[in-house]
Amino acid sequence: MAKVLLGFMGSGKSTIARGLDPDYLDMDALIEKHLGMSIADFFATKGEEAFRQIESEILADLLQTDQVVSTGGGVVISQQNRDLLKTNTDNIYLKADFETLYQRIAADRDNQRPLFLNNSKEELAAIFQERQAWYEEVASLILDVTKLSPEEIIEELR
Ligand code: S3P
Repeated sequence: MAKVLLGFMGSGKSTIARGLDPDYLDMDALIEKHLGMSIADFFATKGEEAFRQIESEILADLLQTDQVVSTGGGVVISQQNRDLLKTNTDNIYLKADFETLYQRIAADRDNQRPLFLNNSKEELAAIFQERQAWYEEVASLILDVTKLSPEEIIEELR
């Protein structure tokens, strides 16, 4: 069974996954490898819908593993993905407040996310709000990470 980390952009999924297991599987990195280009370039040329299709296929593959898996923040959007995630019993939602997440996303120069670039702060807040129930629907554990350091989160999850 995979140990799946869920949460909005900036919630620390990859950092925590790496801390739990250096051999963790990063969904976005695998998608980029599959696409042969960055997610930002793929969004710009083929659009979000095409991205979501590939994302679903990679999710299905990752759920067959016994690895720690860091997902992309939008993996919970589709009912199909949520149904798939519900077949996995170890889904950890790294929950944080929007303002904290927004500051992190905005400061992350190495990872310019298309949803950040293409939406106003208000629009991104609406996307965040809409997704809350979806993360909670598939989570087997919800951890409020807003005030926790990566070390504290990793300790908590061990
Ligand atoms: C997305 C989150 C990103 C990436 C893509 C779409 C989203 O992953 O999959 O840009 O819809 O929230 P991170 O959550 O790892 O930034």
